[in-house]
Amino acid sequence: MKLNPKAPAPQAPIGGPRHVAIIMDGNGRWATQRGRPRLFGHHSGAKRVREIVEACPDTGVEYLTIFAFSTENWKRTQVEVAGLMSLFRRYISKETRSLSEFGVRVRFIGDRVRLDDKLTKLMNDLEAATAHNTRVHLTIALNYGGRDEVARATQRLAMDVASGQLDPLKVDEETLPRYLDTYVLPDPDLVIRTSGEARISNFLLWQSAYAEYEFIDTLWPDFTKEEFHTLCAAYGGRDRRFGAVKT
Ligand code: IPE
Ligand code: IPE
Ligand code: MG
Repeated sequence: MKLNPKAPAPQAPIGGPRHVAIIMDGNGRWATQRGRPRLFGHHSGAKRVREIVEACPDTGVEYLTIFAFSTENWKRTQVEVAGLMSLFRRYISKETRSLSEFGVRVRFIGDRVRLDDKLTKLMNDLEAATAHNTRVHLTIALNYGGRDEVARATQRLAMDVASGQLDPLKVDEETLPRYLDTYVLPDPDLVIRTSGEARISNFLLWQSAYAEYEFIDTLWPDFTKEEFHTLCAAYGGRDRRFGAVKT
């Protein structure tokens, strides 16, 4: 959809999205356009997160899930991957206090096994430090891939079947999501991808079955709370039928 950055921020719509998920894309191109290294774009992108988190209560958004690093992003250069890991460590250390003061509960989804010990400790500590908060539920997808998540869930489910704790004939649509990383979260209502790419790149495959999608041209480091408000307001006007016919 076309966005008018000068338009006043609309009010929180009734029936707006409760859970918004964002594929934060375009950091590299943003930096390249400025003749800077890609990591400069990642640092600028990380700074945008707080503004969007703080915009959630006004917009009626209770759950915000952001895609920070995919299971496929290990294919990037060693310099970029190491720079991103260092950025995540610094971001968590730096933001813990302000996130907590704002009432944000932080969770991480994705496979932590491949992440270094220092980073996983910071992630665990941030989850523990914010576990009592309820104002905004921020979920950060780090080393996350939708297929990887379903595979890991299936592995755990199969183990429960093998140990006799789960009857395979009782496995249904309600059973599998209990094994997903997102088991405590509602499904996303709205998925936003910045940077003009119209694909989901392995993000929340199971959970987004009935999500609304917005693919916008803005590069992530330029994304503002006004755009966020506009997209949430547009969602309020959508007719979600979930396969049924309205009578
Ligand atoms: C998104 O920005 C951030 C990550 C994937 C870590 P990109 O780094 O993918 O930016 P572009 O797509 O190359 O511009
Ligand atoms: C998706 O962006 C992953 C994140 C935003 C973390 P990518 O830039 O990795 O996706 P592709 O490669 O364009 O599909
Ligand atoms: Mg990209």
